[in-house]
Amino acid sequence: MRKESPVDPSTSEPVGLPVTTMTFRDKKAEDVPVVVVTAYDAGGARLVERAGVDAILVGDSLGMTVLGHDDTLRVTMDDMVRHTAAVSRGASRAMVIGDMPFMSFQVSPEEALANAGRLVVEGGATAVKLEGGRRVAETAGRIVGAGIPVMGHVGLTPQSVHAFGGYSTQAKETGPAIELVEDCVALQEAGCFAIVLECIPAELAERATALLEASTIGIGAGAGCGGQVQVFHDLLGLGEFVPRHARVYAELGEAVVDAVGHYAADVRAGSFPRDEHGTRMDAGALEEFDERLAAASSASEEE
Ligand code: KIV
Repeated sequence: MRKESPVDPSTSEPVGLPVTTMTFRDKKAEDVPVVVVTAYDAGGARLVERAGVDAILVGDSLGMTVLGHDDTLRVTMDDMVRHTAAVSRGASRAMVIGDMPFMSFQVSPEEALANAGRLVVEGGATAVKLEGGRRVAETAGRIVGAGIPVMGHVGLTPQSVHAFGGYSTQAKETGPAIELVEDCVALQEAGCFAIVLECIPAELAERATALLEASTIGIGAGAGCGGQVQVFHDLLGLGEFVPRHARVYAELGEAVVDAVGHYAADVRAGSFPRDEHGTRMDAGALEEFDERLAAASSASEEE
């Protein structure tokens, strides 16, 4: 039986200290699910923190949700640093995890460490995430060794979309399922405090979760993980399409279209803005202004 996180009954908001890797460890020990959601700016971070999430992932899904790319491959370190810094400014309690974009950690462990450091120093992140299993374990260990908590990410790793030939469920067969567990163990041994399991069969995620000490954070991996992560735009109906693993909790996209449509109609009809939306000059100041304007324009006509 899972326990509920404590909330302030007067506000329904979570109480407690800032979320750290210790929080992940404790929640795993107590079988309390960790709630993670993506956000990409300060406003989004403020809202999801008020909603009580434990951690905010500044995912490289930024490339698709915010920057308008077709995939995550074009996201740069500068993009990630800017958006991680914005999220950090909006969050005070939730852990901020900065995602390491494509080619920011593959070239060498040294370069990866320098880039992870940017997410912490310039972006204000508490932890970083990187995609891959055994092949990135050494790099993950190097970053952990420098004192930066690392979240791993296995299964459907979107930065490998071309290698996978699309965004399909991974590790459905025995061999790949065993390799996935080996990847998780390698990441855990490298010091990762948590591992995202993306789009893998629920039974495999459940077994990996039972086997590992690190927290498993699922997306499209069933309810048997140590926590869940979802993309802000998917939860809120702001995306172009809804992935199978997402539930739309609010149709904000439609609400935006409706609200902006009403605004446009009001402007065209002359019913917005009204007096209460602006200010008026003091009558005396206006009279004097009109006189001086008239004097200035008649002086310029005489020239
Ligand atoms: O970039 C992202 O948003 C992610 C999550 C989907 C796990 O990696």
